[in-house]
Amino acid sequence: MCSASAAQTLLTWYDRHARRLPWRVSPRNRKLGEVPDPYRIWLSEVMLQQTTVAAVKDYFEKFTLAWPSVEDLAAAPEEDVMKAWAGLGYYSRARNLKKCADAVAAEFQGRFPDTEEDLLTLPGIGPYTAAAIATIAFDRHAAVVDGNVERVLSRFFQIETPLPDAKPVIRARMADLTPQIRPGDFAQAVMDLGATICTPRRPACALCPWMTACQAHSSGMVETLPRKAPK
Ligand code: ADE
Repeated sequence: MCSASAAQTLLTWYDRHARRLPWRVSPRNRKLGEVPDPYRIWLSEVMLQQTTVAAVKDYFEKFTLAWPSVEDLAAAPEEDVMKAWAGLGYYSRARNLKKCADAVAAEFQGRFPDTEEDLLTLPGIGPYTAAAIATIAFDRHAAVVDGNVERVLSRFFQIETPLPDAKPVIRARMADLTPQIRPGDFAQAVMDLGATICTPRRPACALCPWMTACQAHSSGMVETLPRKAPK
């Protein structure tokens, strides 16, 4: 299967099966012209670093109720933000969250920059988060690679090099596979596939839209990939 048809197959699956997440503009019920809010995408991506979707949902609701915009968050006292974060862990994320909100308000007039390069200048935004915001919020072509994407692509392309050495290869494959139209939905579709079907153990290959094109499925290697280098 060529990249374009693999991408199209997955987007069609995503249109039916996308998880409904509070920060996501669902492909099933998005209103005409509705676009994702970069503030909500950024907040969710920072919360999702090292934390599960299930744990993040309530915190996301609490933050967006208390501070509906990045400027509201910038105006909040740091201790209120730290208190609201309590329980989520990795507290440097909360300190950087506040610093980032302050920088967006002060240096970018309250509007998140829309390129990976500018996003990378902000506190707490590394390569993964910059790519995720650029593509999900602004539909820019970027290769978004998290643990789910690593697992899905290692299997789809039967990449037998162990992680982390395989990372550059996976990144290049993701860049090739990502379509010019709907790159943000595509990134989220690969993440959803990894979270719901192409799981670390007992993946549900029979339900996978990529099953027939998946190289690891053809060779019976799904559960042995991705390989990890011994620590
Ligand atoms: N994990 C991190 N970001 C995600 C997203 N936007 N969709 C699904 N899973 C995610």
